[in-house]
Amino acid sequence: MISCCIFDLDGVIVDTAKYHYLAWAELAHKLGFEFTPEQGEATKGVSRMASLDVVLRAGGMENRFTEEEKLALATEKNDRYLDFITRMTANEVLPGVKHFLEELHTLGIKVVLGSASKNAGVILDRCDLRPLFDRVVDGTLVSKAKPDPEVFAKGAELIGIPAAECVVFEDAAAGVEAATRAGMRSVGVGGSPLLEKATMQLRSFEGFTFGDLKAGVDK
Ligand code: BG6
Ligand code: MG
Repeated sequence: MISCCIFDLDGVIVDTAKYHYLAWAELAHKLGFEFTPEQGEATKGVSRMASLDVVLRAGGMENRFTEEEKLALATEKNDRYLDFITRMTANEVLPGVKHFLEELHTLGIKVVLGSASKNAGVILDRCDLRPLFDRVVDGTLVSKAKPDPEVFAKGAELIGIPAAECVVFEDAAAGVEAATRAGMRSVGVGGSPLLEKATMQLRSFEGFTFGDLKAGVDK
C-alpha cells in the first residue's frame, strides 16, 4: 500500500544539482584546483558543510582551514548558488513532475518534500510548487544529513503515515540509503548506476503514473 510519496528536491523535482556543482566548481577554482563533475556526485544529497568537505578533500585542502574559514567558504558558495536559484522559473521543473504530483493529489496520496537543502523554500516558491506539497521538511528542520533517515522519518511522522506506506523519490545514493534506513521503499530517479539499491529505477517522470509506481514498488 502507498499512502504517501516523499520527494527529494535537488535532482528529482528540479535540476538544481547542476547549480550546486557550478557554485562548488567556482569556489574550487578560486582555491586553485579543478573540481570535476564526477567528484561532484559525492555532494549530492549531503548537507552544505559535508559538501564543502568533499570539495576540500578533492583539492587536498581538508586540513587547511579553521571552522570559521570553512563557514565563510560555504557562505561564499551559497551566495553564488542563490544567484542561480533566485532566477529560476517554473519552466525548470523537470518534465512530468508537476503532472505526477497533481495525480497524487487527485488520488488522495500525501505529498511531502524531504530535502537536505536550506534553500528548498526559495526553489518551491520560484517554481510555484509549494501548493502541491502537504508538508515540507527541509534542511532548516533536520540536523542529521542523509544517509541518516531523519529527514524522511520526520516527514512521515508529521504527515502521520507509517514508514511502510511511504515511498521516497531520490537521485542520490545517500538518499536511497536514508529511505531504506527509514524503512521505506524508494525510487531511484535519473538512471545513475549508484542508485541500484533503490526498489525501482525511473529515468524521467515524463508519462509516469501512480499505476507505474504501484507496479514498480508494490511487489
Ligand atoms: C541537497 C543537495 O539537496 O541539499 C546537496 O543534493 C546540497 O548537494 C544540500 O549540499 C544542501 O543544500 P543547501 O541549499 O542548504 O546548501
Ligand atoms: Mg537530490
